[in-house]
Amino acid sequence: MAGTGVRPLSREPLTLPGLLPPLPAEALHARVARTLRGAVSEGALPGGTRLPGHRALAQALGVSRNTLVDALAQLEAEGYVEARGRSGTRVLLPVLDLPGTGSAPAPRLPLSAWAERALAGQLEDAGGDYATDFRVGQPVPELYPARAWAQALARRAAQPLTGSGGDDPLGPLDTRRALAAHLRAERGAQVTPEMLMLTGGTQPALDALARLFLEPGRVAAAEVPTYPAALAALSATGAEVRGVPVDGGGLCPEALPPQASLLYLTPGCQYPTTVTLGAARRREVLAWARGAGAYLLEDDYAADLHHTGRAPTVMQGLAPERVILLGSFSKSLAPVTRSGFVAAPPEVLRVLAATRPLTDRFPGTLDALALADLLASGGYARHLRRARQALAHRHDVLLAALTNLLPGWQPRPARAGLHLYVTLPPGLSAPAAQAGARAVGVALSPVSGPGQAGVLLAYAHLPPEAIRAGVGRLARQFA
Ligand SMILES: Cc1ncc(COP(=O)(O)O)c(C=O)c1O
Repeated sequence: MAGTGVRPLSREPLTLPGLLPPLPAEALHARVARTLRGAVSEGALPGGTRLPGHRALAQALGVSRNTLVDALAQLEAEGYVEARGRSGTRVLLPVLDLPGTGSAPAPRLPLSAWAERALAGQLEDAGGDYATDFRVGQPVPELYPARAWAQALARRAAQPLTGSGGDDPLGPLDTRRALAAHLRAERGAQVTPEMLMLTGGTQPALDALARLFLEPGRVAAAEVPTYPAALAALSATGAEVRGVPVDGGGLCPEALPPQASLLYLTPGCQYPTTVTLGAARRREVLAWARGAGAYLLEDDYAADLHHTGRAPTVMQGLAPERVILLGSFSKSLAPVTRSGFVAAPPEVLRVLAATRPLTDRFPGTLDALALADLLASGGYARHLRRARQALAHRHDVLLAALTNLLPGWQPRPARAGLHLYVTLPPGLSAPAAQAGARAVGVALSPVSGPGQAGVLLAYAHLPPEAIRAGVGRLARQFA
């Protein structure tokens, strides 16, 4: 932008910007005002600056005096400048220290206890550039049916959305019908459209349920190890979260606390160990929940990503009055869809629906309607068939590479999901494995905890040759 040097009445040099390019149908005085407003906001005309006299300023900007006077009147009405009679016009606003423009320390905020706890539980993202990145949580292009999803979205976007149930806090009935049919047929759930609420993925559902049932003084329970984002949502409420150990058979029911309002668990494919909870333990957990008056939060995140054999059915099907089922299409479609659901007993769903308007009111209607079409048309089922083949292949490639090249590391074959859980050899801790891997350009996700020395290697997003090359690097460091 061409600068026009103009000296204000003070001795400080002042650089005025050239006029900004005009907007369609914009009057000249409005363009001058926009130019000066921009200069104030960007700090080129800091608060307190005394502007040159009208004639000099008009000349510098290449406009008439009347135009300039109109522009200054507008800026004065907006509070950007103040006319002070004979002592000229001053810039009023202090320069805002916008993110990325200054180094002033952030002011201390009067945060709530919830916010303090939520910040304390923040999940770290190590970032970094690696030759092979085995970390969990990365997008998987093969799990995004771009064409089918784009077609479903475009079709719905072209239709008028009135009468589509777009303001129902539960989400459009079309989608809940299609989803209920899918969950009954594929997951063994006992669910009707009236028991379903659509959400923006699992996380907002966890947050809402945690806030409904938990507060300081209450107790929740969760598997150890568990999904860090779930733990963060439960802990942020201030409730005490008791850990329930997981062994080779999944969650150990005998370690469940005598009282709890909620138990978060992943019985279909324990996160992160990938173990499926067997029938006997499922029955014990349900008996405990009835005795403790607790609700189970069953996170069925890997439901549609069972690539080996048939997926185990959900616990919700055994006890729909005790189990709140959480599902997400983040992994089986793509995290960008932010599509998920809660299937809950009617009394829980009523409270969820009644309190939703306080936060996000209702789910994204367009995505929800596209999902209804994808489910009802069989497009989702076709997509999953293809995706599962790719997942199974990559899973097998990683398993074989680890078995051949890193015999001390013990991968647990997984029937579902996007990663392998690997037990480390005695003497190698998870942080040491992470550091050693980083030294040879490989990133992985460590899992530490009492009695745990393991790492997660996500395979779903990597082509087979990248998987083999990554394990080769690890072998150079650890074999
Ligand atoms: C255990 C578990 N639950 C749920 C999810 C899905 O979360 P969301 O739907 O919030 O993306 C994930 C995805 O990373 C997960 O690992």
